[in-house]
Amino acid sequence: MKKVFEKINLGGIEINNRIVRSATAELMGDSNGYMTDRLLNMYSELCDGNIGLLITGLTEVVEGTATHTLMKIHDDSYIEGLKKLTDLVHSNGNKIVVQLVHHGSQISGRPRYEPYSPSGIEEEGSRVKSREITKEEIKKLVEDFGDGALRAKKAGFDGVQIHGAHGYFFSRFLTPYYNRRNDEYGGSIENRARIILEAYENIRKKCGEDFPIFIKINACDFLDEGGLTFEDSKKAIKMFSEAGFNAIEVSGGIKIGKHTAVRPAIRAREDEAYHREYANEIAKEISTPVIVVGGFRNLDVVKEVIENTHVDAVALCRPFIIEPKLVTRWLEGDTQKSKCISCNKCFNPRGTICIFNKK
Ligand SMILES: Cc1cc2nc3c(=O)[nH]c(=O)nc-3n(C[C@H](O)[C@H](O)[C@H](O)COP(=O)(O)O)c2cc1C
Repeated sequence: MKKVFEKINLGGIEINNRIVRSATAELMGDSNGYMTDRLLNMYSELCDGNIGLLITGLTEVVEGTATHTLMKIHDDSYIEGLKKLTDLVHSNGNKIVVQLVHHGSQISGRPRYEPYSPSGIEEEGSRVKSREITKEEIKKLVEDFGDGALRAKKAGFDGVQIHGAHGYFFSRFLTPYYNRRNDEYGGSIENRARIILEAYENIRKKCGEDFPIFIKINACDFLDEGGLTFEDSKKAIKMFSEAGFNAIEVSGGIKIGKHTAVRPAIRAREDEAYHREYANEIAKEISTPVIVVGGFRNLDVVKEVIENTHVDAVALCRPFIIEPKLVTRWLEGDTQKSKCISCNKCFNPRGTICIFNKK
């Protein structure tokens, strides 16, 4: 039987246990997204926490497409600062994967580029207008992902994760409501997943056969109509698995859906592990390792999923914002649940923090 606290090889990365820190936007870079002491200090605390694998917050691969203090990797000048981060993590015996993102039109604040999206559908809420991305721009963007991943490799990351979830650019391609294209990038799920596969191939070509490439993807968008369905998500994931992706992180939800990825008020055990069934069904059908994220608060629940499902690892985000050393506490025998009350006040444009920590 699988155990939470055992060494495993997760998609080519040797890790000490099956607990992952899911990508968490830090918003702690300087005004151009370069490395800061604040960012390094935050990771230093996580490093002391016995987390099997760290995944960084979303990191921009195309200049001007993300809030300025988010981490960036769109040119070589970022490598030096990112290397400080990977050195810190490795010197503490941890492993780290960088999450690569293109925001598309899901941006906060005033866009610093002319936003494009699969089909130019206006954003609800922010009302950001975008235009349809051209095929030439798709080619360029695919190269940008490859180049970003190569910089990540040079900076010492153990792998990369493509952000294909939560309504960001790639996720929008998978969602019929946002992707109304009539070319080879729209229509069937094979077409809607094409851009992600092209980005994958470009990364593989530039970073080599052994470089771990993960993806985070929605099992379902939770829209009444026009969302990515579980059936289509499974088809896409099978394609990703066959193409050679090294691990799949299963999440769910977009802003306009019935559920978002970051569900509030996880109080009862029944509220936890809210993507468990989707991830298990996916893991049953593919040989690629599957990570599940969403609402884990109790060690018992983490154990239950690892021991009783086909899922390989469990990822947590908010519990590590309030308590970076949660896993250490659990390992030392204090198995009280996470102190996180899922109030979602950790979303803070001045840097992701827990308001109960006052740091
Ligand atoms: C403050 C904050 C920042 C987040 N940033 C990212 C991100 O950069 N990339 C991503 O894929 N998910 C991001 N998420 C979503 C989490 O990775 C995770 O999928 C979600 O919070 C559910 O897990 P949890 O219940 O353990 O928090 C973020 C969530 C929060 C609360």
